[in-house]
Amino acid sequence: MYNKRPVNFANVRGNAVLLGQQFVGDVLHKGCVAVDATAGNGYDTLFLANLVGEKGRVYAFDIQQSALDVTARRLTQFGLDNNVQLIHDGHEKMDLYINSPVDAFMFNLGYLPGGDHDKITRSPTTTRALQIALNLLKPGGRISLVVYTGHSGAGEESRAVDEMAAKLDPRLFGVLKVAFVNRSVSAPFLIYIERVKKEIENLAP
Ligand SMILES: C[S@@+](CC[C@H](N)C(=O)[O-])C[C@H]1O[C@@H](n2cnc3c(N)ncnc32)[C@H](O)[C@@H]1O
Repeated sequence: MYNKRPVNFANVRGNAVLLGQQFVGDVLHKGCVAVDATAGNGYDTLFLANLVGEKGRVYAFDIQQSALDVTARRLTQFGLDNNVQLIHDGHEKMDLYINSPVDAFMFNLGYLPGGDHDKITRSPTTTRALQIALNLLKPGGRISLVVYTGHSGAGEESRAVDEMAAKLDPRLFGVLKVAFVNRSVSAPFLIYIERVKKEIENLAP
């Protein structure tokens, strides 16, 4: 049985991955639809699959088949492979695979730990995927992004994500940036996005 790990805020090094999980996990329950935009080693996919249960659905994307293989093994180990669709494609093409509203998206950017450091997420595809996620997100739904800043190429991507998040209409989305202010400048940061539950009618620009 897979158990949700508690987030330890008192740990001064912090854990961006667990914070991202906690943010989306709070709106997920059995029967929900969730997307892991970067399956990687499958920890987030497993987390989502456990929360949405057999009546729910998880879509997990990765450009590396090896990552999806690791994810598949992890899901099987915990008996959570029935409700997950593993997709060997870029998250910038999510709209080819998903055409109904989604409760939560997780983006854990960067490279696969223990894998090829050249196969990283990049700003043009990440921002395109984020736009698709915003379009598919249900009212009250959430998106978490764990954004790394230390590796080559990370600067451009982190700036692009930051700028895109800052421009979202506050009448439609609540947006929060969470940073580890007492860690190195290359520590990851998080972007939390929540779509408002009820849109105000006749939004003027
Ligand atoms: C930091 S890892 C993800 C960690 C993962 N969420 C976990 O729980 O282990 C980032 C992953 O993004 C993948 N990736 C890179 N570009 C991508 C793209 N355009 N679409 C989907 N995945 C991509 C990489 O192959 C890598 O496996």
